[in-house]
Parts: sequence; C-alpha cells; structure tokens
Amino acid sequence: MASRIPGPPAFDAPPPPPETPPVRLRKELLDLPAHVPGAVGATAAVFKLSANELPFPPLPAVIAAIHDAAEDVNRYPQVYGARLLRALATHHGVVEDQVLIGNGAVALAELLIRSMCSPGDEVVHPWRCFEAYPAVARANGAVSVPVPLRADGSHDLAAMAVAVTERTRVIVVAAPADPTGASITHTDLLAFLEVVPVDVMVILDESYVQFDRTADRIDSRALMPIHKNVVVLRTFSNAYGLAGLRIGYALARRRLVRVLRRVSTPFGVSELGQVAAMAALNQTALVESRVAEIVAERDRVVAALRDQGWDVGEPQGNFYWLPLGERSSLFARDTVQSGVTVRPFPGEGVRISIGEPEANDIALGVAARWVRRVMSPGEPGGFA
Ligand SMILES: Cc1ncc(COP(=O)(O)O)c(C=O)c1O
Repeated sequence: MASRIPGPPAFDAPPPPPETPPVRLRKELLDLPAHVPGAVGATAAVFKLSANELPFPPLPAVIAAIHDAAEDVNRYPQVYGARLLRALATHHGVVEDQVLIGNGAVALAELLIRSMCSPGDEVVHPWRCFEAYPAVARANGAVSVPVPLRADGSHDLAAMAVAVTERTRVIVVAAPADPTGASITHTDLLAFLEVVPVDVMVILDESYVQFDRTADRIDSRALMPIHKNVVVLRTFSNAYGLAGLRIGYALARRRLVRVLRRVSTPFGVSELGQVAAMAALNQTALVESRVAEIVAERDRVVAALRDQGWDVGEPQGNFYWLPLGERSSLFARDTVQSGVTVRPFPGEGVRISIGEPEANDIALGVAARWVRRVMSPGEPGGFA
C-alpha cells in the first residue's frame, strides 16, 4: 500500500527563534505561524494518517497521463488551463468562465482573500479550522476574526453571522470542516446565507465533499445562482488522490472569475497537474468506489470508537477527531510508537485520517488502550 513513508518524526518541534530579516518585511509577517505539515514516520514501518491523503496508489489513468505529458515539461503549461476548465465546466454543469484552477485549494483561498481584502478588512472564519485561512488573511494585512466551533466541532453559524461587521469582506465556511470533520446541512447554510450581506464573499470550502454522507448535504450548484457571493472551493488532493500535484479549483460567478483570473498566477498549475486532473475526472466509477471504501472504513472505525466510549461526533471527511485536550501530543507520541502518525493540535485534539485498514486498526488499538489505562470516564478529552 502507498502510504508507508520514510522521514523524520515531527512532533512538537520547537519553533525557530523569531528573526528580523535585514530587509524591511511587513511587520505582520514576522510572527505568522508556519504551516504544520502532517508528520511522517521515522521508519517505513510507520503509516501516515496525519495529512488526510488517500491510502491508495494514484489512479492508473493518472499515471499514464503524467507519463505521456512528461515529454513536454520543457514547455509552459496552458496559461489558465483551458482544457481542464472545459472538463470541469462539463463536470459541474457550468460554463468555463465560472471555473478557475489553482495550485491547490489553498492557493485559491489565498487569491480570494488577497483579492477581497485591503489592510484592516476582516475575514470571519470558524476556529479551529484549516490554518491557512487565518494565516493568509493576516499575511495580506487583513484581520482574522475567529469564531469558536460549537462543542460538537461544527461551525457556529449564528455566532459567525453576528461576527460580521462593516469591515468584513470574506467569510469562510468549510463542509466537511477540517479538522473536526463536522459538516453543515443545506438548510442551515441557506439560512446563514440569507443574513450575510451580499457584498461579503462566502468561501464555501468543499475540499472533502465527496466523503460527506449528511442526509441534507449542501447542494452548492443549487446555491450559487441564488447567492452570487458564494465561491466554492474544491480540490483534487483528497478524493482524487492527487495531493502531490497541487491542483484545486474555484467555482464562482463569471464576472468575478474574469477579474480573479487576471490576478492569479499565470501558468500557476503545471501541465502534469492539469492532465492528471483531467484523467482523474474521467475515472468517475473508480474514484467513487475508492471514496465508498473510505466512507465504509470511516463508519467501521467510528462505530468501534463509540463502542470504546469515545465521543467522536459525526465525522464526514476522510478523517476523524478525538478531542483529547491537553493530552493530544501525548496521544500522538503513543500512536507513532505504535506505527501510525496522526496530526495533534496541542491542547485541543488529534485529527486522524482514514487510511489502510491495518493502519486504522493500529490507531483504534491505541485509542482502546487509552480508554483502559489513561482516561477516566467523564473527564474532559472526549471520553464519554
Ligand atoms: C479545509 C481544507 N481546505 C483546503 C485544503 C488544502 O487543499 P489543497 O491540497 O487543494 O491545497 C485543506 C488541506 O488540508 C483543507 O483541510
């Protein structure tokens, strides 16, 4: 299987001392936290469940497409990815001018926030969420306005609506959310959008949407014509298994896309990324069966955790969340010693990807051991 990856362990590495570079960098950049990548194991015997990747090898059609395109890497890629835009437009039933590709959803999030915010403008986002959002907001001189998640790890949409001010330019909503996996219903999102000012952009991050089995799942295609301030973000990193190629896309109204294209990085997505994405889009049946396998495995793992006594909420991505609080780093150390890396958020919880059944069983074994030896019933940290 694909994800036994060698490399150094990376738990609680002390942050480097703050440095003042000799050139006059904008001061708000000096104390920005660095992105924390998912840890990899110190030996090849350690499974990687720390980065929400798929445990399967790349799709055979993707490998073939990359192989064919490799001969042309002396050439620039298509500047804005016209062929991929056509394929995505067909896939989503929209026109090409409503699609924008980028170097991962994260690059598009940066483009959107940079395009919307002047210094001092505000970006409202749930917290905890994918760390890139507050980081990108602050890096662009905007103010990050974190709104705490509800106790079950879901967005507090009512509190997010209240957090909107005259200075709010962007609101971030993720369904399913990273790292808790909680999702949002279509009904709740519609009600939220009704109260958001129409000139505020709502980024609807659907990076994990393929795994979402919420009964009233968000139908972003139905939302977009009604709420023109919504921009949907998607990625090929997760369900399509192309995390290493860095390719994502945004769906938005035409006029907005036309402007965003002008300020996006020209040639921002490699030709290898573009052909791989097109090949993956053509593999609907195989992609869906892989997603179904992950969802079935997630359901198995969640049921086992509940049997052990854990409160795991309703994870709808290809990962789950154990709210271990102060014990998160300790738990992560224990899992790596047992053979899997996970992603600890010190003081809050641990995010664990759904990987190979063998890897999931190792994580389950650690969780069971913790119930027996470490946790007391009722104590903070998710043990019900
Ligand atoms: C909610 C969310 N959005 C976006 C991303 C980044 O996606 P990409 O790999 O396409 O940049 C992540 C990755 O962790 C994520 O969790």
